Amino acid sequence: MNETHKLVIIVGSVREGRFGPVVASWVADRAREHGGFDVDIVDLADADIPLALPEVSPLFAGDSYPRPEKMASLTSHLQEADAFIVVTPEYNHSYPASLKAAIDWHFSQWKAKPVAFVSYGGAAGGRHAVLHLENVFTELHAVTIRDGLAFPFYYRSWTDEQPQDEAAPGYAKAMLDQLAWWAAALHAARSAIPYPA
Ligand SMILES: Cc1cc2nc3c(=O)[nH]c(=O)nc-3n(C[C@H](O)[C@H](O)[C@H](O)COP(=O)(O)O)c2cc1C
Repeated sequence: MNETHKLVIIVGSVREGRFGPVVASWVADRAREHGGFDVDIVDLADADIPLALPEVSPLFAGDSYPRPEKMASLTSHLQEADAFIVVTPEYNHSYPASLKAAIDWHFSQWKAKPVAFVSYGGAAGGRHAVLHLENVFTELHAVTIRDGLAFPFYYRSWTDEQPQDEAAPGYAKAMLDQLAWWAAALHAARSAIPYPA
């Protein structure tokens, strides 16, 4: 399993003054260090993601789903990816609407691919958001990765754009090892046998 797989790290928040890009950049550095991935960061703030969806479902429309022009780069990154890391804050005990909209505009792009989570927030470190996301990605036939990272009170536990918890790089390595395993396994499986849904 020496080949690399395409990893897309999604910045889930689009709020002004958001912290998400700091976390995504740190995670991307860990993923590059890991060596098992070609790493891209996809920032949802760069895409046009309307809340109003087309009449047809992306499940049935396939490639002809009518997406906005400024969503094309997001869609092709999701399409090409072998694995995802979703970087999410917690908004009112869930994840941001920007992330839900981006997820709902796509369907096949998630299918039979692994998704890991890195969250941040107050006391719960974004865990409520991740629990909801795990549920959503199961509906999309994605495989969620058990190990992830959660950063409680990130405004106290990060300085100079780095987490102060010395255990964090080790947790990142464990998550990335699992993600790489699933990326390789599911890439091979998708190539060998059409997914039955
Ligand atoms: C609308 C809103 C709701 C929030 N609700 C929660 C919450 O339920 N739990 C929590 O830990 N933090 C909550 N927060 C605080 C966020 O975790 C914190 O603002 C974080 O920086 C948001 O990520 P972002 O900067 O990338 O947007 C909330 C923030 C916003 C803007």
